[in-house]
Amino acid sequence: MVKIRWLGHSAFEISTSKITVYVDPFLSDNPKAALKVDEIKKADFILVTHDHFDHMGDAVAIAKKTDATLVAVPEVASSISENIKTVAPNIGAMVNLNSLKVAFVPAFHTSSKGAPVGVVFTVDGKTIYHAGDTGLFGDMKLIGEVYSPEVALLPVGGYYTMGPREAAIAVSLIKPKVAIPMHYGTFPVLEQTPEKFVEEVKKTAPTVKVVVLNPGESYEL
Ligand code: NI
Ligand code: MN
Repeated sequence: MVKIRWLGHSAFEISTSKITVYVDPFLSDNPKAALKVDEIKKADFILVTHDHFDHMGDAVAIAKKTDATLVAVPEVASSISENIKTVAPNIGAMVNLNSLKVAFVPAFHTSSKGAPVGVVFTVDGKTIYHAGDTGLFGDMKLIGEVYSPEVALLPVGGYYTMGPREAAIAVSLIKPKVAIPMHYGTFPVLEQTPEKFVEEVKKTAPTVKVVVLNPGESYEL
């Protein structure tokens, strides 16, 4: 069983009985954060999609506290001065980290260092696509075909990323079983609710189940 827990914004905790993974753990300055760094006792990997503060967040602090391995593109990983474990693949292929397989995929966005990415990862036989911050792009279809993710975690808040309409088209390209919206409701400039996204997916991809979580809630697969 894989548990996907939304921590608010683009932060997720993905866990099985054996492994705990954090993705874009923006917690301390996140008004919607469902978890404090102090509450984290165990982490094995931390995946960071790009170096914007609302994604890099507490990644280094969690790595220092738990001895977890931080996974980021080379330019982001090498910019970290603290003494933590890092793995730094680039966009291109699945990397086998024993209990976790990770592939960085493109994201259409900006970053201070390196390139922003999405991340496809497999734990316990289940594949999840976290799109990071991105606009809509046609090769999401290819990501769906190559990796067949069961779950897609997609930004829907607009302004910095896809909005509800674009994200619903992304769902139709990726064709996951389940789509979970993220990157909304955190800041005033973002879309405040996922309702438009839910409505749009009914039109673009009616067979895909949209799971709307509140910060702190989980979906299990
Ligand atoms: Ni960003
Ligand atoms: Mn962001």
